Amino acid sequence: MTNTVHAPTDPKIMRRPKETVTAEEFWNKGKKTVNKRGIKRLVTGLPTTDGAGVNLTRIIGSPELDMLDPFLLLDEFGSDNPDDYIAGFPPHPHRGFETITYMLNGKWQHKDSAGNEGLLGDGSVQWMTAGRGIIHSEMPIQTDGLARGFQLWLNLPKEKKMIPPAYQNIPAEQIPIIKTDSGIVKLISGEYNGISGPGKSHTEVLILDIQLKPKSELWFPVPNSWNAFGFIYEGAVSSGKLLSKGQLAVFETEGNIHFKTENINAGIYFAAGEPLNEPVARGGPFVMNTRGEVLQAFTDYQNGVLDK
Ligand code: CO
Repeated sequence: MTNTVHAPTDPKIMRRPKETVTAEEFWNKGKKTVNKRGIKRLVTGLPTTDGAGVNLTRIIGSPELDMLDPFLLLDEFGSDNPDDYIAGFPPHPHRGFETITYMLNGKWQHKDSAGNEGLLGDGSVQWMTAGRGIIHSEMPIQTDGLARGFQLWLNLPKEKKMIPPAYQNIPAEQIPIIKTDSGIVKLISGEYNGISGPGKSHTEVLILDIQLKPKSELWFPVPNSWNAFGFIYEGAVSSGKLLSKGQLAVFETEGNIHFKTENINAGIYFAAGEPLNEPVARGGPFVMNTRGEVLQAFTDYQNGVLDK
C-alpha cells in the first residue's frame, strides 16, 4: 500500500491573496500597506414592530438583506419614548441559533425556561444560545431617557442546533475597551489585537463596538472568506464609500477593514463571521436546516417539549 500525500485543503489558506497578511503580521508591521476590504453593498434598515409592540429597525433579516451568513438578523432598537419599547418581548420560543443583545443605553430584564435570569444595563451584553430550545422573555425596565441597543442572531452549525441551551450575562466591566488615538474599540467577542472578547460563540466571529473621534483612522484584520458588516449608529465614516448614520455596509470577503472619519465622530456596530454555507430554513423564531425541522420545532413548542 502506498502512502497518500494530502494537499492543503484549508480554504482560508488556499484563497489568501499574496498581499494579505496574517493577523499577527498585521498588528506587528506594515498594516497601512495591506489591502483594504471593499464594500459590496449598502443597506438601510426597515422600521418594523416586534414582540408586544416594540418599534425597531430591522437591518438584517429584511426583504432587502435576508441574511449575511452566519448572521440571520440584526435589529436596532432606540427611542427616548418608553411607549416605543415598554411592552417588551413577553415569553416566546427560539431554536437553532444564538441571540446577542448589546445595550448601548437602558435596562432590560431577561428570564428563560432554563432558569436563567439577568439584568442588562448600559454597555452590557446578553448572549443566549437557544440550542434545541428555550422560551424566554426580554422586558424593558423603564428608566429616564434613551433606551438603545442591538440584537444580533447568530446561526448555529447543523451539528450544534440541538445542543442544550446556554446563557452568558456579560456586564459592561467585562468587555475589554481598547483605547487608541483614534477612539475606542469595545471587544464583545472574538480576537482583536491579541485580546479575546468575553462572548463565547459556537462559530468563529468578531463583534465590536467602534467609537471613532473626528479626523481619525482605524485598520484591523478580518480573516479572508469571512462575511463582515458595519452598521453606522452615530455620525459618519468613510470606508472607500461615505457611510452615514442608519446605513449598514456589507463588506467584500477579502482584505482588511479600514475606517476613516472627517469632521464628525462615528459609532459603528461591527461584526464578522465565518460563513457556515449550510441550508437555512426559517420559521419565525426557529432557524433550522430543513422545513421539516422547523415544523418539528413548532410541534414541539405546541406540545410543551421544545426545551425537553
Ligand atoms: Co427572543
